[in-house]
Amino acid sequence: MVTPDGLTLTCKQEEGVAEGKLRVLFTREDIREYVNELALAVRRDYGDKNPLFLGVLKGSFVFLADLVRAVGFPLEVDLVRLASYGASTYSSGQVRMLLEPTIPVKGRHVLVVDDIVDTGICLRYLLDYLADKGTASLKVCVLFNKKERRQVQVRLDYVGAEVPDLFVVGYGLDFAERYRHLPDLCALEMQEDSGASQTR
Ligand code: IMP
Ligand code: MG
Repeated sequence: MVTPDGLTLTCKQEEGVAEGKLRVLFTREDIREYVNELALAVRRDYGDKNPLFLGVLKGSFVFLADLVRAVGFPLEVDLVRLASYGASTYSSGQVRMLLEPTIPVKGRHVLVVDDIVDTGICLRYLLDYLADKGTASLKVCVLFNKKERRQVQVRLDYVGAEVPDLFVVGYGLDFAERYRHLPDLCALEMQEDSGASQTR
């Protein structure tokens, strides 16, 4: 179990993969604070608009669940799923949508809810896709921002916290589908070069 006090622990990866260390960057209490601050700002702007919150799967499912309960006003929720080609290496810059929204976005106040922005490539693709569909307004709410790694411009309207250039897991974020269940946000530090820092 990951402790919330910044201690590291060693986790055995699957056979043939290097051992990694998890270091807590943000505790569950820190994250709750970020979510509550975001909820407050979002409530000010959307409280009377019946917005459509559009969660980006898979990573945002924990954040989205906490955010919708924290905002405390009527809204609708839909989900999209994006993937970059060549899933286990650096983002190739080519994105495809594995799951499209089912609620029409035309004329709606859409708030994209994402876990973390890294290169910005996935989000840029989604925003271009949505802009073409004639939303009434379109904004972005992300919990974590890795500004240093940005490759394409994206405007972030609400940001929970800045994260250094590290590969992070927990609170919905994964490495090869692992660690999504951890309540804290942890840096995954590989002891050998097993590609964690390059995997998206
Ligand atoms: P981007 O297109 O490079 O901005 O990244 C798109 C997606 O990759 C994010 O929404 C996350 O789901 C995932 N991702 C980026 N950085 C990390 C990380 O450090 N840990 C886990 N997932 C990440
Ligand atoms: Mg994401």
